[in-house]
This record gives sequence, structure tokens and C-alpha cells, in this order.
Amino acid sequence: MGLGPQAFIDHSALEHNLQRVRQAAPNSRVMVMLKANAYGHGMVSVANTLQDADAMAVARVGEGVQLRKAGITSPIVILEGCFDQEELLQAVQHNLELVVHEQGQIGILQQHTLANPIACWLKVDTGMHRLGFPVSRAIDAYNALGQCSSVAPDVRIMTHLSNADDSNDPETDHQLRLIKPLLEQTGAIGSIANSGGILNWPESHLEWVRPGIMLYGSSPFNGRNGEDEGLRPVMTLQSNLIAVNTYSKGDGVGYGKGWICPEEMPVGVVAIGYGDGYPRHAIPGTPVLLNGKPVPLIGRVSMDMITVDLRTQPDAVTGDRVTLWGRGLPAETIAKHAGTISYELFCGVTNRVELIQGRPE
Ligand SMILES: Cc1ncc(COP(=O)(O)O)c(C=O)c1O
Repeated sequence: MGLGPQAFIDHSALEHNLQRVRQAAPNSRVMVMLKANAYGHGMVSVANTLQDADAMAVARVGEGVQLRKAGITSPIVILEGCFDQEELLQAVQHNLELVVHEQGQIGILQQHTLANPIACWLKVDTGMHRLGFPVSRAIDAYNALGQCSSVAPDVRIMTHLSNADDSNDPETDHQLRLIKPLLEQTGAIGSIANSGGILNWPESHLEWVRPGIMLYGSSPFNGRNGEDEGLRPVMTLQSNLIAVNTYSKGDGVGYGKGWICPEEMPVGVVAIGYGDGYPRHAIPGTPVLLNGKPVPLIGRVSMDMITVDLRTQPDAVTGDRVTLWGRGLPAETIAKHAGTISYELFCGVTNRVELIQGRPE
């Protein structure tokens, strides 16, 4: 096998993180977020490991169909719902549950008589202002679904937290205050909590919680790591050194000569770049683990390669193992250096990177 990037997926960490969700929300059922290829971790293999979850959720009907075709039998919720008859029939055929977030979706359900009514979740907008019926129109929408013969009884209600990444933000309490009367009035089963809600707002737990990022081992909170929350990283992205060169004081390294050598120094080239999903905006100084020890990124990130300062590791040689994030180097740290969030790092790993099921050696 040649040298190059591999993303190791640690399924025991997934199981551990699911247990962490259950520990934090012991009275709730758990709907695991598998959308976007399970946040880049491989949707079908993650689904197989998380079969103990009470339900799974994806954004689009096509993702749900893919899970069914792979033999997944758990309840599957489609977070964006369906947008035409064809999608509705696919959802029925594959026994998917639908989120209903706008009037047109109610119309589609009203226009089609289904032999087996479909389970639905009404999405209410309590402040995210992305999807969902405004609180003022939620009761009408709830009643309309309740009266629709194609909709299974006991429509459930969900909302999504917009600011749960900030533990001090009063917006979350505000959203909770808006949804609670609606749940009391309807008596519907409810779901509010994403990872932030699960870890920090017990009053958001209700009957169902919807963990995403915490399952994959990252903290949802600014300035914290998964380890701080008792989570384990699931993805470890590794590659190898493919060259070690020595340059003189004043030599520029990489595109735009983004790094000028302050002295004669060894420079390592690692086979990973933005073509693999390593963030192009990672700044010089972003840590990389070389044989388990941190060395700083220098110069610009290229499509297939990055360069690292080897002055603290003069014995490094071609073939040495490099960790870009994961075990020993939190993805949150890299995200911070690249001006992004770990969600985007995980989802951005491209299909050029082999996903290996298991832990790195
Ligand atoms: C509707 C919904 N619920 C839950 C989640 C999970 O959020 P998190 O990954 O922050 O736990 C998401 C993710 O964006 C979502 O869109």
C-alpha cells in the first residue's frame, strides 16, 4: 500500500458516545443524526453500529432510501420532508417518517390518499428562522395534519435550537419558552435537543433528543473539546510524510512563498491537502502530529500536500505517520486554526480518502 491519507472510523467510540447521550438524557429516546454521510463518517457503516438508537435522521428522502436499501430497519426521519408526489411515494414505500415544515408539504399529503398513513413530525420555528411554521401558525398546521387521512395519528412536534453552541446565550431559554405551551396544548410528543441541548439544557430533553456532533466525538460548545464532554473522537485522519527537504535561511516554501525559512531547516511534506478535505484556510502554526508529537504547519495548504516545520523532529523520514485530527489532536483545535467548525472538517473529507473501519495503530 502506498503513502497517503486514510480516515479511521472508531466504532467503539461511536458506541461510547451514544452511551454518553443516554447518560445525559436518560429519559429520552434517541434519534441519531446520520445526514451528510453521517457527518462524513460513512452513513451505512455508522447506521449499522448505531442500531441500538431509537431512530435515525437524515436530511433528504434519497438518504433514507439509501439506508433502507442497505438493510437498515430502524425508524428513519426525513428532516427536510418531501417536496412532490414522487418523494412522498418513495417515503411510503421505504417506511420513512416525514418532517413537515411548510404549507406546501401539508398540501402534498392532503392531495394523496395513502393506503398506510405516514408518520409525521411538525417542525415549528421558535427562532432559528430556517425551517418550520411560526409559533403563531403551528396549531393550525398541527390540526390540518391531524385531520389528514394520509397522516398517521399522533403527529409529533419538533423545533431546532439556533444558539445552543453558546452555553450563556439566553436565546435557548427563549426558544424553550415558546415551544412548551404548544406541547402542553396539543399533548404531542416533542423533540428539541441537539447535542448542545442534550449536554446543557436538561429541560430541552423531552421525549426525543437528536444528537449529531457529539456522536462523532466533538463538543458542540465554543472553546471546548469532545474530551471535555466525556466524548471520544470517532474519526482520526492520518497520512504520511512523503518528502523531507532542508532549505536555507530566506528560502520561501510553497505557493506564494507562504513561509520564509528563518534559518536552515528541515521541511516535511505531508500527503494531505484541500483535495482531501484538509482546510485550505488552516493558518501557519496549525498543529499536526508527527509520530505522536506536534509540529506546526508552515506555508499554504495545497491541493494534495501540506508542509510542516521539522526543526523539533530532525530525524523524521519519508513514510512517517502523521495525524491531522482525531485521537491525540482534537478536530476542534484544527477547526479553530482554520476559522471553521469540526462539523465542516468531518463533512469535507473527500472520497479520495479511504475510510478504514477501526482505530489507527
Ligand atoms: C434538525 C436537526 N436536529 C439535530 C441536529 C444535530 O445537531 P448537532 O450536530 O449540533 O447535535 C441537526 C444538525 O444540524 C439538525 O439539523
